[in-house]
Amino acid sequence: MDKIYLVGLPGSGKSHTGKWLSHKLGWDFVDLDELIEKNEKKSIADLFETLGEDGFRDIEQKYLTVTFSYKQCVVSCGGGTPAWSNNMENMGRHGLTVYLNTELGEIERRLEASKTLRPLLKHNQSLGKQILELNEKRRPYYSRAKVIWNRNEPSEQFFRSLDRLLAIY
Ligand code: S3P
Repeated sequence: MDKIYLVGLPGSGKSHTGKWLSHKLGWDFVDLDELIEKNEKKSIADLFETLGEDGFRDIEQKYLTVTFSYKQCVVSCGGGTPAWSNNMENMGRHGLTVYLNTELGEIERRLEASKTLRPLLKHNQSLGKQILELNEKRRPYYSRAKVIWNRNEPSEQFFRSLDRLLAIY
């Protein structure tokens, strides 16, 4: 197995963890949102605005498919990638899916401090409530990941078991 797909809610730490993991493994790191923005020459927020969510999801799926031919890389997905079409199943076919299960209060603190514009989150509604709702909707998809990393498990310990798993797959 030469690819890892990191899934989880916005603010769960996918990009940060993905960079760390790729460094530990000596693999490349790909941020799916950045891959889309670079190739489409538009921000994620602009794509949402011009195409609507469904249009954005089609484009996201197109770039996800591009990553299936990559070798030795850790892909950080968008929070909604696993919940669209058969993305989760396809990621599982091409790589090891890892769900970053981060505590919701921690996610709220991070998103509050974040400067990234996330079109799905509305400024005029309670952030905590929106995260709860998103978690309800998305958890069934995230939970299909082959590996679940409960973020209170120490990083090095997690890495050792992941490394063993990669050798088996
Ligand atoms: C989204 C999460 C974002 C980005 C887009 C939609 C979502 O990525 O793909 O704004 O539906 O949860 P992050 O999870 O990296 O914030």
